[in-house]
Amino acid sequence: MMSTDSSARAEQPVVLADGLAKAYGEVRALQGVSFSIPAGSVVGFLGPNGAGKTTAIKILTGSLAADAGRASICGYDVERDAQAARASIGYLPENNPLYPEMRVDRFLRFAWEAQRTDGQSETREQAIERVVEATGLAMVFRRAIGNCSKGYRQRVGFAQALLHDPPLLILDEPTNGLDPLQVVEIRELIRQLGRTKTVLLTTHVLPEVEALADRVVLIHQGRKVADDSLDRLSAAGEGRLIQLSVQAPPAALEAVLQGFGAEIVQLRPGAFGSADSTRALLRVERFDAAQLAALSQAVQEAGLALLELAPHAGGLESLFQGLDRHAPVGEEAVQ
Ligand SMILES: Nc1ncnc2c1ncn2[C@@H]1O[C@H](COP(=O)(O)OP(=O)(O)O)[C@@H](O)[C@H]1O
Ligand SMILES: [Mg+2]
Repeated sequence: MMSTDSSARAEQPVVLADGLAKAYGEVRALQGVSFSIPAGSVVGFLGPNGAGKTTAIKILTGSLAADAGRASICGYDVERDAQAARASIGYLPENNPLYPEMRVDRFLRFAWEAQRTDGQSETREQAIERVVEATGLAMVFRRAIGNCSKGYRQRVGFAQALLHDPPLLILDEPTNGLDPLQVVEIRELIRQLGRTKTVLLTTHVLPEVEALADRVVLIHQGRKVADDSLDRLSAAGEGRLIQLSVQAPPAALEAVLQGFGAEIVQLRPGAFGSADSTRALLRVERFDAAQLAALSQAVQEAGLALLELAPHAGGLESLFQGLDRHAPVGEEAVQ
């Protein structure tokens, strides 16, 4: 039975998030976010500050319980199989909390002990040698963390995340607060690590995903608004994207569009400052008058008032930049 179990796990996505929701009092930080990440990809979790990225990351890493939905890592449920799920993740938290007075070598020994699990194939010193090599820490190995540059401190955080050689790395804003040269170096490190590991990294800046990710999950105000390969999102300006807004909730528009056979790239509430309207971005096979006419007819036959139907220039940048300008009303403002 063991082999059946492990081969079933091998086919599981590395990350599976299904309908994750979380509120902090009145603030609905996550409102039903689902995505899955196959092995071997580098996924950028992109969204403006306050979008809910860190909240989602905390749920995936088991440091926060979701109000609704479920998540698994390599097939292990983050709540029911918390230990196995956590053992599959190397986690670099936002703002990389470290002990400034502790030496790098001592911190790594301490972190290894804290993370130790059964069945590790390496000794502590072997693991430390491997991560020091992988992150280029040899120069500062015996230095106090507080006396290292911010770039090196970030490397210490990476080294800590790699200690038990997990298949998945979760990096929360890994280059935030670094100077431009350090950003280049840390991105190069992430690129190297991405050759052998699945990586989920969050960022609030577009260039970061463009530099590193092959796929983007775009979130805004606690909802996923786009999920596609970077190539497809960036090359979306091939003239086959349509922006469509209706006076109806998202579910009503979604039902019409499913019947129509258009691919929904983005679907979110609140077009033109009206809370009960929806704006969708669609990818269509053909882009011509007949297509537009058919869409307009389908929407109207379903009894939805059409607010907008136009070609969309596309591109990840315009998707991302468009978020704040059309913030839905009646929800928490983005900080
Ligand atoms: N511990 C908390 N208590 C109250 N509100 C919180 C807490 N953590 C996050 N929030 C709020 O939840 C929303 C999402 O935050 P967060 O997940 O940190 O977003 P991001 O990482 O995308 O910037 C924001 O409005 C934020 O202010
Ligand atoms: Mg955050």
